[in-house]
Order: sequence, then structure tokens, then C-alpha cells
Amino acid sequence: MPANKRPQRHPRSVLFEEGDDGRRFLNGLWDEFNSSPPPYLAVRPRFVTTREHRRFTEFADTVRMNRYIGLCYGSPGVGKTLSARHYAGTDEWEQWHPLSGGLEPLPPVPEPVLRSRTAFFTPTVSATLKQIDQGLPRACQHISWALDYAEHGHVDPYVHTESQHCGRTELLIIDEADRLKTAGLEQVRDFYDRHSLGVILIGMPGIEKRLARYPQLYSRIGFAHEYRTLRKDELASVVAQRLPEPDPDDEGLAHTAAIAAIVRATNGNFRLADRLVTQINRILDINNRRHLTPEAVDAALEALLVGH
Ligand SMILES: Nc1ncnc2c1ncn2[C@@H]1O[C@H](COP(=O)(O)OP(=O)(O)O)[C@@H](O)[C@H]1O
Ligand SMILES: [Mg+2]
Repeated sequence: MPANKRPQRHPRSVLFEEGDDGRRFLNGLWDEFNSSPPPYLAVRPRFVTTREHRRFTEFADTVRMNRYIGLCYGSPGVGKTLSARHYAGTDEWEQWHPLSGGLEPLPPVPEPVLRSRTAFFTPTVSATLKQIDQGLPRACQHISWALDYAEHGHVDPYVHTESQHCGRTELLIIDEADRLKTAGLEQVRDFYDRHSLGVILIGMPGIEKRLARYPQLYSRIGFAHEYRTLRKDELASVVAQRLPEPDPDDEGLAHTAAIAAIVRATNGNFRLADRLVTQINRILDINNRRHLTPEAVDAALEALLVGH
């Protein structure tokens, strides 16, 4: 069928009457619709279990077990958000959770959610106090109910009372905690005091000094964890996996030099390494090169804004 030819029968929701083509969505004041799972980005590189991720997992397990407040800080682009989302099973949760709004049979609750019992919350840039006030308990309560659903096959907060007060959620991770102002931090402390779960705040370096100005919250922080940059050897092997094989004709010399140049230029920053690898592959592709060379790395670096 030609791309511009529409199929004869459109699937319709019950909101539409005959002859309604839904054009009000085109020119109305409708916001983004978020009731379906977010699009799954197939081009996203596979998650790599790095040493820093293992350290983060250990840290999160400890905070969760002891129900402390933990602080995790590190430069932008080192992998904090991805580690935390991987720990909590947030990608899987975001695919599963919206399905509960439909009438179709629900697939099983994702295994990483059952395992981690962790809620993940990111305040928006201009989050209001009300949004935070509602957002924290909502994120945590949904996890508790999902655990009930997995265990009992249904949710009944009056029968399975242990899930009230977010009782089955063991950890709340708040990403981009730098966005929280004084009142927001106070809300987090108050939420923590009224519940029995651990909390991890993730932010940029310097957040630990900023929090020291709020003794109420600071005195409750059990652990501070620095998320460090990727080690050179790990970075080299991660980028090598995503780039062409060494050239047997020069015994891999150009390849080794190119990888060393990438490691130097990205300095352990995962996000920058990712962008650089994409750019290098593009340059090799358009020049029909099958092997990696330091020249391709130089050309890719010129095309990138090397900031983090
Ligand atoms: N463990 C990992 N495996 C694969 N890619 C990763 C990993 N950690 C980070 N990345 C890459 O680095 C980018 C930045 O990571 P992110 O977690 O957003 O950093 P931060 O939150 O520290 O700023 C990600 O979009 C991803 O491309
Ligand atoms: Mg982040």
C-alpha cells in the first residue's frame, strides 16, 4: 500500500462517533498523552554492568536494608541515572505500569521490580510543592500495590493492609535531586520520617555540601557515595565492542592508537564516549572504511562539541 494511502477502517476508541476524524487533537489545547507505555528505543546500546554499577548496587542494597537516606553524587554523564534505573527496573516498570489502565489481561509484574522493591522518582525542572507532595507517595504506593498484585493476583488495600503507607516498598530513588529547593528537601525528609523505606538522592558533585546546610536532612544521611568515572580499561573495552574490528594488515596498530585517543578524549565519561562512538561509526560509514583509524577519531572529535 502506498505510504500516503490510508487504510479503509481505522481502529476507534469509544470516544469517537461516526464521522469524527479527531482533528481537535491537531489544533486543540491537548497536552501530551502518556497513558500508553513510552516508545521503546531499539537503537539504545545494551546496558553494561560496569564496576561503578556494581558499586552502586551494593550501595543501594545497603541503604535499602538499613532504611537510611543515602546520597549519590557524580559528574554528569558518568552513568548515575542509568545505574539507578537498571537497579529499580524502571524501564520494565514504565512498559508494564500503563497497561494496568486497560482491560486486557496484565502480563506478570516485571521481575526486577519484584526483586528491588524500589520506586524511582524524577522531579520535573519546575516541580511544584504539590507535585512533589503527591508524586513521592504515588510512586512508592504503586510499587507496593504491584507487589500485592504479583503475590495475590489482585489488589485490595483493605485486605492486604501491609501495602498501605507504601509498606512493601523498600527504597525510593530520587534522581536529579539538585532540582529540589529547600522546601522540596524538607518534603523528602518528612516523607522519609513518616514511612519505613530507604531513600537515595542522586545529584551532581557539590550536592553533599549544599545538603550540609540543612541539618535536619543531613543528620539522617547514612551514606554518601561518589559515582566515579568509568575506568580506562573498562571504557576501552566498552567502546571497542561498538567499533569495527582491528585491521589484520597493520596488526591492529591503528585500532589500538584510535582506542587510546578515545579514552584520552572522553576521560571516563560514558555519555561522551557514546556520542563519540556514534560519530566515528558515521564517519567510517560515509567514507566506506571497514577499520578504525585515529584519523576517524580526530574527525569525529571535531564534529562534536566536547562538553559533558
Ligand atoms: N552502564 C551503562 N551501560 C551502557 N551505557 C551507559 C551506561 N551508563 C551510562 N551509559 C551511557 O551514558 C549516558 C549517560 O548516562 P546517565 O546515566 O544519563 O548519566 P548521569 O545520570 O550520570 O548524567 C547514557 O545515556 C548511556 O548512553
Ligand atoms: Mg542523570
